[in-house]
Amino acid sequence: MPSGTARRYHDRTTHSPESVRTSAHTLDWDVKPFPFKVYTELPARALPRELDPVAADALAAPAPAGTRTSLETLAALLYYSAGVTRKKAYPGGGEVLFRAAPSTGALYQTEVYVAAGEVEGLEPGLYHLCPGDFTLRRLRSGDVRQALAVAAADASVARRAATLLLTAIYWRNTWKYQARGYRHLFWDSGTLLANLLAVGDALGQAPRVLTSFVDADVNRLLGIDPAREAALELVTLGPEGAPAPPVTTLDEIRHPYMPLSSDEVDYPLLRELHAASSLESPLAVTAWRRGGATGPRAAEVTSGVLVPLPAPRAAAGRGLGETIQRRGSTRQFGHEALTAVELSTALGWATRPVAADVPQGLVDLYLIVNAVEGVAPGAYVYRRDAHALELVKAGELRRESAYLCLEQPLGGDAAAVIYFLAPLDDVLGAFGDRGYRLVNLEAGIAGGRAYLAAYAQGFGASGLTFYDRLVVEFFAPHAAGRDAIFVTALGRSAAGGRVTIGTTLGRPRRPPA
Ligand SMILES: Cc1cc2nc3c(=O)[nH]c(=O)nc-3n(C[C@H](O)[C@H](O)[C@H](O)COP(=O)(O)O)c2cc1C
Repeated sequence: MPSGTARRYHDRTTHSPESVRTSAHTLDWDVKPFPFKVYTELPARALPRELDPVAADALAAPAPAGTRTSLETLAALLYYSAGVTRKKAYPGGGEVLFRAAPSTGALYQTEVYVAAGEVEGLEPGLYHLCPGDFTLRRLRSGDVRQALAVAAADASVARRAATLLLTAIYWRNTWKYQARGYRHLFWDSGTLLANLLAVGDALGQAPRVLTSFVDADVNRLLGIDPAREAALELVTLGPEGAPAPPVTTLDEIRHPYMPLSSDEVDYPLLRELHAASSLESPLAVTAWRRGGATGPRAAEVTSGVLVPLPAPRAAAGRGLGETIQRRGSTRQFGHEALTAVELSTALGWATRPVAADVPQGLVDLYLIVNAVEGVAPGAYVYRRDAHALELVKAGELRRESAYLCLEQPLGGDAAAVIYFLAPLDDVLGAFGDRGYRLVNLEAGIAGGRAYLAAYAQGFGASGLTFYDRLVVEFFAPHAAGRDAIFVTALGRSAAGGRVTIGTTLGRPRRPPA
């Protein structure tokens, strides 16, 4: 049963024209958090830099599962999901190291850890990835998969070759976005997962996402400070082998790391929601999964006019590794149209099933179509069952779309804008407060996949934030009972219809030092 914490949090962190205009928040650049977590007393182990370029077509079906997991495979998975793919210097001396997956404000609060068991070339242990120098540092030696399996109430965790653990460091994001940053933890781990799932599938690793586990036990295993950083998702990888041996004792660990900044602000609202949505025991994990199995699904049945979409493309003609290497959020869309096949492929890709411990389909995709060949401008909802667009209202809506996206021109200039909406109260009724994590994560993964499908096809995308209630009112009455969760815009870059990209491209085999 929901405690009301998630609903309260959601309502207190909505954006409105008034809240944006009256916000007194300013960015304190003196305490901007450092973008990398660097353990100061652990030796760094360099990951291979001669990477598998993941040449499989970016839109191909998953490769057959069962391929062994090697250190080289692991390096490719880590690089193409969390690695530094390009650098940009700014006037005044600032430099941003952009990563493989998009992230709100380029703040990169998602950290990645690896519980390695049967990884060829890597001793069993628990490791932390530092994308800055592309190294692993070992936090624990010995196989921890069995302890993780108990915390996740899932015996397969002890048999798969490795598990990646995604966490978030709150302050990296709340520095800019305050308590609203809790939503971003799931949007951004979702976009990272979109890449990880695609690369894992392409490399025959059969990645599977676990959203449920005993939070405190996983945090303790990682040795992270739960007031500042928390585990969000686990991803099991690689072939199943014999189960890892049981772990008798796990010492407390608290390896020192470089402070992120000289000062930080605590946002109790965020911590309260994380605590309220935590699971306390393996039994609670199992019960939660069972409870959600009968949960709500986004409604598919209405009587609007259906506009059929052509079949999605089965191939992009561009490799997945190259697609990720070239990705970068579009900073200005031109008004050039997308084809119906391009939109169809992006929608089909965004909503492909995710191998996970929970069912998907909790989030609906509403759209504003500004310029798509063969689809009249207007507002629609995507009907997955029919792979069609259902008309909500017809007309030119560029001005409205920009306004809904926090008055950002990107929302009006894009060819199509996906608004992810969820029947939040129903989801919270079925999954409790943890359902809040689920809807934001599902939208983040779908948004990340839309990005990949766009870049694979040679056009661009950008995640966007939005005026919560105005979005729901705009799609009313169709969207009654739903809340706005996330937005992704699609279109051709104003820079000649090509993707907007950085400078260090074309040689995916060598991540920058
Ligand atoms: C969840 C999410 C929300 C975003 N929201 C906005 C936004 O409101 N406005 C904007 O201009 N860019 C937005 N972006 C784009 C980020 O600023 C961009 O991902 C980040 O600067 C990293 O750059 P890159 O995507 O080019 O690698 C968003 C990205 C994500 C993943």
